[in-house]
Amino acid sequence: MLTIIESIKSIMEESFEKAGYDKKYGFVSVSNRPDLCQYQCNGAMAAAKEYKKAPIAIANDVLEAVGDNEAFKSIEAVNPGFININLSEKFILSFISEMSTEEKFGINLPKQGKKVVIDYGGPNVAKSLHVGHLRSAVIGESVKRILRYMGDDIVGDVHLGDWGLQIGLVITELSKRKPDLPYFDDNFEGEYPKEAPFTIEELCEIYPYASGYSKEHEDYLLEAQENTAKFQNGDPGFKAIWNHILDVSIADLKKNYDKLNVEFDIWNKESDVQPLIPKMIDDMKNKGLLHESEGALVVDVAEESDKKEIPPCIVVKSNGATLYATTDLATIVDRKQQFNPDEIIYVVDKRQSMYFTQVFRTAKKSGLVDEDTNLVFIGFGTMNGKDGKPFKTRDGGVLRLQDLREDVTAEVLAKIKENRDYSDEEGTQIAEKVGVAAIKYGDLSNQASKDYIFDISRFTSFEGNTGPYILYTIVRIKSLLAKYQEEGGIVDEKNTTALLPADSDSEIKLQLSLLKFGEVMQSAYEEKAPHKICQFIYELSDSFNHFYHENKILGNDDENRKKSYIQLLILVKRVLEQCIDLLGFDAPERM
Ligand code: ARG
Repeated sequence: MLTIIESIKSIMEESFEKAGYDKKYGFVSVSNRPDLCQYQCNGAMAAAKEYKKAPIAIANDVLEAVGDNEAFKSIEAVNPGFININLSEKFILSFISEMSTEEKFGINLPKQGKKVVIDYGGPNVAKSLHVGHLRSAVIGESVKRILRYMGDDIVGDVHLGDWGLQIGLVITELSKRKPDLPYFDDNFEGEYPKEAPFTIEELCEIYPYASGYSKEHEDYLLEAQENTAKFQNGDPGFKAIWNHILDVSIADLKKNYDKLNVEFDIWNKESDVQPLIPKMIDDMKNKGLLHESEGALVVDVAEESDKKEIPPCIVVKSNGATLYATTDLATIVDRKQQFNPDEIIYVVDKRQSMYFTQVFRTAKKSGLVDEDTNLVFIGFGTMNGKDGKPFKTRDGGVLRLQDLREDVTAEVLAKIKENRDYSDEEGTQIAEKVGVAAIKYGDLSNQASKDYIFDISRFTSFEGNTGPYILYTIVRIKSLLAKYQEEGGIVDEKNTTALLPADSDSEIKLQLSLLKFGEVMQSAYEEKAPHKICQFIYELSDSFNHFYHENKILGNDDENRKKSYIQLLILVKRVLEQCIDLLGFDAPERM
């Protein structure tokens, strides 16, 4: 369907033409003076130059051409040549009715969906999920949902880090602590135990310990590097340990992501693409792209137009080992074979931006993907603590995601218990839902590339631009609808004939807020920007709460008016619920 702005624009274009001016001047925008009008057309100002005429004269000509139009409640030219537009209640309502009945609220979908792979999450086995991985999961999940809603065929891949030094470090430390395990006996010929020689808790302690120790003891680091190589070359005992690490870690990761409503379609691992590397490197050699530089094999990726230096991409290290980039390139080969995507999106810390420039250019130069495949890097900023430094635990350590979630849940639980006496079970359930909303909205309401400050008390507040405020609005509507039903009313989302033209300013404002949905979705989709949806639902919630305070809803004496309000409430609730689903959280029944 046409958006309301497009419809006004088409009337204005026609009128400019009718008055003898170019129709390109009939552009319309939401008013930046909402106290004066809802929409404005500044085309007469722009046309003045071309027609060498005073803008106000042009505006008046156009108004004459508009004549009496049912769309407008008022339309006037004001000095020096603006056209101020207020729409008629009936005209606005026709869009609201259409929005209520059409699938996906009548938004315009792209003509053809793209095939997309989105690489997000990017956790590493053996390490517990910490807050550094939070943003990738939260932003990636939302971008995936937005693209899917808009008709793209999108696959979310967790791209599990299971191939690096962390494996060698765990193996090395384990060999010191439990040297008698059969994995370390080169002559062992039996079957390795099914049971892992560590729990997730132990694993999460072993890795940081080994990592810290290796930073201070060079021989230990060397040993870990050798063990990594031995594992990568297929040592059976080490591979068995690695399998245990995978099992234990993946189970824990799934549990954590599940609590955050983050669902990956595929769990591909860095290790999966290692077999593709030799041929890929051969192909690059044959194309003459690889050349030696200080013993390493590199691809030059600098371009003349570069403003800063882009160093060559190292594909094979001087000792013959492959590295992070090699794996990422092979993953592109794999994705091309599996999905032949139009677009691959990476949601990764923006500090890896240069790295991805190198990888993307190498992939294009080597023909790993077609020239027109879109390789997109969504680089996110850092989540900081209140001190403006990267978020840490009180004692300065890396905070585990699970602990963060539990802290937030506890904070919310305390808040909701102030209002009502919930059973422990219900209270916790609600607090978990609200907590996820607090965390995700707190993150997504910022433009992804910006750093932000994680402030528990602000994020969990029921007032202001927060997740809980949005949920509170939805819960308020749910409870109004439930009450209406208790009183014998019928809640039916299809009953749109009950809708009447608005009878107050707050209702008009609410309807106009709703009607922004289509444009918001379009720009959230094109710019891969969940924060646009946050802005929208914050405004919509505000408009709704204002409407709620200004009008008698259930207590209204006019039965028809009441029915109409209920219909509007249903639509607001549906739109809000759709939006929070796109952000990756949902609302409880009460809170
Ligand atoms: N595992 C990596 C890390 O923890 C992130 C992976 C990002 N994705 C990628 N394709 N490189 O830093």
